Amino acid sequence: MDKAKVASFLENLDYGPAPESAGQAQAWLKLHNEQFGHFVGGSWHTPSDGTYFETLDPAHPDNILAKVAQGSPTDVDAAVQAARRAFEPWSSLAGHIRARYLYAIARAIARHSRILAVLESLDNGKTIRETRDIDVPLVIRHFYYHAGWAQLMDREFPGHRPGGVVAQIIPWNFPLLMLAWKIAPAIAAGNTVVLKPAEFTPLSALYFAELLINEVKLPPGVINIVTGDGQTGRALVEHPVPWKIAFTGSTEVGRLIRSATAGTGKHLTLELGGKSPFIVFDNADLDSAIEGVVNGIWFNQGQVCCAGSRMLVQESISAEFIDRLKQRMSKLRSGTPLDKAMDMGAINSAPQLEKILRLTKLGQEQGAVMWQPPSATGAKSPESCESGYFFPPTLFTEVQPSHTIAREEIFGPVLVSMTFRTPGEAVELANNTRYGLAASVWSQDIDLALDVARRIKAGTVWVNSTNLFDGASGFGGYRESGYGREGGREGMYEVLEEVFPPPTSEKRRSPKNGERVALTTEIDRTYRFLIGGKLVRPDAAGSFSITSPDGTFLGVVGEANRKDVRAAVEAARNASKAWGDSTAHNRAQILYFLAENLASQHDRFKDTVAAESGIRPEDAAQEVEMTVERLFHWAAMTDKFEGTVQPVPSRRLVCGLREAVGIIGMRAADEWPLLGLVSVIAPAAAMGNCVVAVAGRHALTSVEFIQVIQNSDVPAGVINILTASKPDDIALVIAEHEDVDAVWFFGSEAGSSAVERASIGNMKRTWTSNGRLFDWAGPQGISRRIAREATQVKNVWVPYGV
Ligand code: NAI
Ligand code: MG
Repeated sequence: MDKAKVASFLENLDYGPAPESAGQAQAWLKLHNEQFGHFVGGSWHTPSDGTYFETLDPAHPDNILAKVAQGSPTDVDAAVQAARRAFEPWSSLAGHIRARYLYAIARAIARHSRILAVLESLDNGKTIRETRDIDVPLVIRHFYYHAGWAQLMDREFPGHRPGGVVAQIIPWNFPLLMLAWKIAPAIAAGNTVVLKPAEFTPLSALYFAELLINEVKLPPGVINIVTGDGQTGRALVEHPVPWKIAFTGSTEVGRLIRSATAGTGKHLTLELGGKSPFIVFDNADLDSAIEGVVNGIWFNQGQVCCAGSRMLVQESISAEFIDRLKQRMSKLRSGTPLDKAMDMGAINSAPQLEKILRLTKLGQEQGAVMWQPPSATGAKSPESCESGYFFPPTLFTEVQPSHTIAREEIFGPVLVSMTFRTPGEAVELANNTRYGLAASVWSQDIDLALDVARRIKAGTVWVNSTNLFDGASGFGGYRESGYGREGGREGMYEVLEEVFPPPTSEKRRSPKNGERVALTTEIDRTYRFLIGGKLVRPDAAGSFSITSPDGTFLGVVGEANRKDVRAAVEAARNASKAWGDSTAHNRAQILYFLAENLASQHDRFKDTVAAESGIRPEDAAQEVEMTVERLFHWAAMTDKFEGTVQPVPSRRLVCGLREAVGIIGMRAADEWPLLGLVSVIAPAAAMGNCVVAVAGRHALTSVEFIQVIQNSDVPAGVINILTASKPDDIALVIAEHEDVDAVWFFGSEAGSSAVERASIGNMKRTWTSNGRLFDWAGPQGISRRIAREATQVKNVWVPYGV
């Protein structure tokens, strides 16, 4: 062969078609006459009202793959009842037996991995390369990993038990993987589940169900699958039986679910959207970073909640980087998902394609510049996509942070790029979002990369890598990306309830006549709040008086209003960064100092507590003692509530760092004037949060405690204390405040419900007692749960030896 010919071969080197056969998957669909019912109680059931909907192949929208049952409330109820019946036997099985079932599930999926990969690709539109090499292997790994937790649960989670039926609702972007993320931990812990797949991608879940019947022989009712749309999801959310709802999907639906579950006492985890930054420094390995971008935003056509959709490039290399990126984009192959040589498949659905088209159009109208590879055939509307819902890889430059495309989740193969000059600017831009799901940081300078990783507000940070997942590493968001974690030890706590022995402390009783305590010291700091380290008069100069239960007047305290809340939150925000950055050692010292100062005023607090709550002096004295000890407890925990290093299969250190939530608003319990207040303030401050607390019935004790705070070197703004005659109303104002990150509410059911509903603005985390008494004097009062509520885990993936 002559040289020129060889050279021309090399020049034009191209891929031939390498299709994976759909035959086996199609045969399976045929076997079911292309029609599926619900999987309830271990067998198939036709929908109660006979309604079906179609699921299609997004690469060939004319190709209806199957008809799938539309779940009615009756169907949902049947599934929930089946799960309820299965709970008792399943949860009482030895952990080892449950482990064997999970192991069997992993093995069955492995045996059927090829057909599952094909089915997933057909139903979703994603490439076979991804389903085969990423989705399905991760699914298998997830069941293996959680088989381990089933085995170890009794030893590793003493004092915890499964709560019952878990309702799970998943999206269409990773149908089988999200199923695994939801089901594996829940059943490992001993719960039973009802799962609703997304209406666009139900097939792999149905194949999975069949595996449970034919091969795993899982006891009926442990896993139930009800198909249907948002209405079916709603019925599942509104069903009274499930103790927990786990949702992954849009922030919009996440809000609806938060609202629907407010006041029900149901445990809720939400994994919502993102607009994750992808940060490239000038000292990055640029070739790797380019491949990182490809993986970050064109993996799964960008329909990834943690997609690196906001690229931030250091200005000095920006022009070169964009240039190289465009060259790389021109080489991306987009087409038939079942072709093994394709980089990109089809967008999942017509509505999703519409959304991408709408947002990219808006991006151009707002002045950003859109670029697509010259050979790309652009989708103009879903109707114009005869050969499938394809959308080309797309890059936007000249993007302003205020542009819609820089703020909203597009959920498509669309990258928006911006530049920065300094690391500080990069962090600021990265955090300039409502979301906080993930981030990717590229630099060969480890100091810089880890410093930036630390400062970014996100649940996962990948250093010199992106879109890596593993069962051992918890995944979930900060801020409006939701709350709760899936995977890892953290994820197990989300499917378990902590059980406590009944309170042992002797019931405190009112003093007999003659034992009554009179206040010996004058309360002279009336009308004041603690805001920003200062004694501040109420904005409206309002006040209310505190009397003892027998009606004796004790003192006058300030009545907080909306403006006072605003001032307190602002003070907390100002203090937040420095306090969060301070060392745990430093915070511990301050808590010990608080304890010391409280102890030195033991008698005075004993009197106030006794007078205000009408208990015997010796009970009050005991409460003061317990509070001193409580401060010691959290001072000790400050540097002992450690993070973890997760052993993942790839050569990476995954460091689970525990970070402060930020600003926590709290309404302290009424039952323990001093202990109740300090038991929430101390752990929150210990973990690096700033606090805005409101006290009501026992406001006088709180006001007294202000002086202790002031004498203990607590930095201004770290603890702010308000008093109000209707503390629930003020807690509500705090819950509505957009700059508060979490609310803890210990009070009535109605108050809990209101706070949960008000929290949906910025999707703040809530922790409410829902009218149940919290045993502050018992083990519940120092549960690690409190520390978990005061922190959020950030997993930082650091590669080595690659
Ligand atoms: P979606 O949030 O509506 O759907 C997710 C799941 O929730 C599906 O199973 C759906 O049937 C169910 N659902 C819908 N309404 C419900 C309700 N009221 N109560 C209970 N369940 C309900 O997401 P959709 O419409 O498929 O996609 C819309 C946008 O959401 C996308 O463009 C994307 O931006 C975002 N999204 C984000 C995901 C993520 O993982 N972060 C996943 C899917 C979508
Ligand atoms: Mg489909």
